[in-house]
Amino acid sequence: MRQKSDARLKYINQVFGNEPEVQKNIREALKKDNKTGIHISPYEAQILSFFVKLTGAKRILEIGSLYGYSTFCLANAAGKNSVIYACEKSVENINKAKNLMKGTEELNRIKWYQGCALDNLKNLSNEEDFDLIFIDADKSNYENYQKWAIQNLKTKGLLIGDNSFLFGSVYQEPRDTAAHKHQQVMLNFNSNLSNLQLFNSMIIPTFEGLTVAQKI
Ligand SMILES: C[S@@+](CC[C@H](N)C(=O)[O-])C[C@H]1O[C@@H](n2cnc3c(N)ncnc32)[C@H](O)[C@@H]1O
Repeated sequence: MRQKSDARLKYINQVFGNEPEVQKNIREALKKDNKTGIHISPYEAQILSFFVKLTGAKRILEIGSLYGYSTFCLANAAGKNSVIYACEKSVENINKAKNLMKGTEELNRIKWYQGCALDNLKNLSNEEDFDLIFIDADKSNYENYQKWAIQNLKTKGLLIGDNSFLFGSVYQEPRDTAAHKHQQVMLNFNSNLSNLQLFNSMIIPTFEGLTVAQKI
């Protein structure tokens, strides 16, 4: 977990970081493969779960699934009659995710879209609009994903973007060249969603920043 050294977040994870056994196993698998800092934390999963349950979202799109930690969380929270469309570039990651979720009812409700998300989104534009879209993939495309999401979200639908502090780069000097490269993209991403004429929105100050916007 990326924020284990922060006592406040450690406390929040202890109290509000309850997770289903499958999620725990996915997290262990990620840890074993040295991918600890990449996925959302248990309490961030609880935030996603909270919004899914609060809004009753049933048609959910995720961009960036890794081993499916957040994907499983979304499917678990959305419950019966929901469909999770999961876009993930890596076939190995998708196979890992399927394996880790094997035998679960949630897996039957996840549709996997392997490959570059922007390519898959072109086909998904013909589908019914979504209730909730969670963006957690390559930062360079955040504005492209956002543009697509705004067009393909239902009115009252939720757009949620992780890492919207971009490792602090939206409010202080970027920590490295990669963060520097994507700084403007993330500044635009947050600024676009802060338009209160179009969105009911905020940034939740998680360790990485979680921007949440409801389409008005
Ligand atoms: C931060 S991880 C996702 C973590 C996951 N949401 C979780 O919390 O469990 C980002 C993922 O996006 C995928 N990715 C990166 N660029 C992509 C692209 N252009 N299209 C689809 N997936 C992409 C990566 O392979 C990686 O698995």
